[in-house]
Amino acid sequence: MQVVNTPIQENEKLNAKSDKVAREKPKTDPINGSHANVGETVGKPFAKHPKMTMRNVDVFYGDKQAIYDVSLDIGKHEVVAMIGPSGCGKSTFLRCLNRMNDTIDICKVKGEIKLEELDVYHPKQDVVPLRARVGMVFQKPNPFPKSIYDNVAYGPRIHGLFERKTDLDEIVENSLRRASLWEEVKDRLHSPGTGLSGGQQQRLCIARTIAVSPEVILMDEPCSALDPIATAKIEELIAELSKKFTIAIVTHSMQQAARVSHRTAYFHMGKLVEVNDTKRVFTNPQHKLTEAYITGRFG
Ligand SMILES: Nc1ncnc2c1ncn2[C@@H]1O[C@H](COP(=O)(O)OP(=O)(O)OP(=O)(O)O)[C@@H](O)[C@H]1O
Ligand SMILES: [Mg+2]
Repeated sequence: MQVVNTPIQENEKLNAKSDKVAREKPKTDPINGSHANVGETVGKPFAKHPKMTMRNVDVFYGDKQAIYDVSLDIGKHEVVAMIGPSGCGKSTFLRCLNRMNDTIDICKVKGEIKLEELDVYHPKQDVVPLRARVGMVFQKPNPFPKSIYDNVAYGPRIHGLFERKTDLDEIVENSLRRASLWEEVKDRLHSPGTGLSGGQQQRLCIARTIAVSPEVILMDEPCSALDPIATAKIEELIAELSKKFTIAIVTHSMQQAARVSHRTAYFHMGKLVEVNDTKRVFTNPQHKLTEAYITGRFG
């Protein structure tokens, strides 16, 4: 009789290698040591149903290496938070996932990054359709100098996602509704997007991102310019959006990571130190460096 593993057994098998590494005590104190002492990623970097898979990713700016041998999966409909001290490479790594680093001349990416079966860095891969599948929301809300309507309609127009004007109207309304902004702007769709408050502008940018029905949304500190009320709205939205999309979010707020994510990835000096279920990372981290960061010993 064939023995069939349960999903939990499968996940344990998948992540067994990194658990084994975690149990081996580091020979030197990694907190005071160089990044050579970080060792292999501990915890659960892999997912049973990955939407994106990253393997052995290195990133260089000219001669300077910013990301070292990072392997990570982001599961379908999962929210993965990326945390770590300033300059540890969170934004650099996030930008690799939809080739946003292509805009930086000196930036070189090595290793494998896949969106399901698609090789993101295949030389023949056009970045425009890729970025429709993997959208990005930035730290500072960046609406185009256009009306609210035209901001959201921008992507569907360039990707030709509708036939009739009424179809476009519907996409705009649905995207604004999903971004929890419709009620606040439905009577002024033709006013400039830049005239909205910061929190509204960020929700407009989220509406613009989801209007092309991406599969993955990358968010780089999406709430850092917002007040606590606007932040709470975006966090609620992330929970709602994860039902339909896969999300990777960089945040400096550990409370935010704890509130919105399923797994949390801790980066340190360009290395991925630990990935674990979010609750575990914040209550019982496996790696000394993660523990030092979450307890405020550095940051
Ligand atoms: N455009 C660039 N050119 C050269 N080096 C860069 C560039 N962008 C980032 N770096 C370097 O790469 C490393 C990682 O930077 P990155 O911006 O990814 O860190 P981060 O974790 O997002 O930091 P923060 O939390 O401050 O946003 C840093 O040493 C940084 O100086
Ligand atoms: Mg950053």
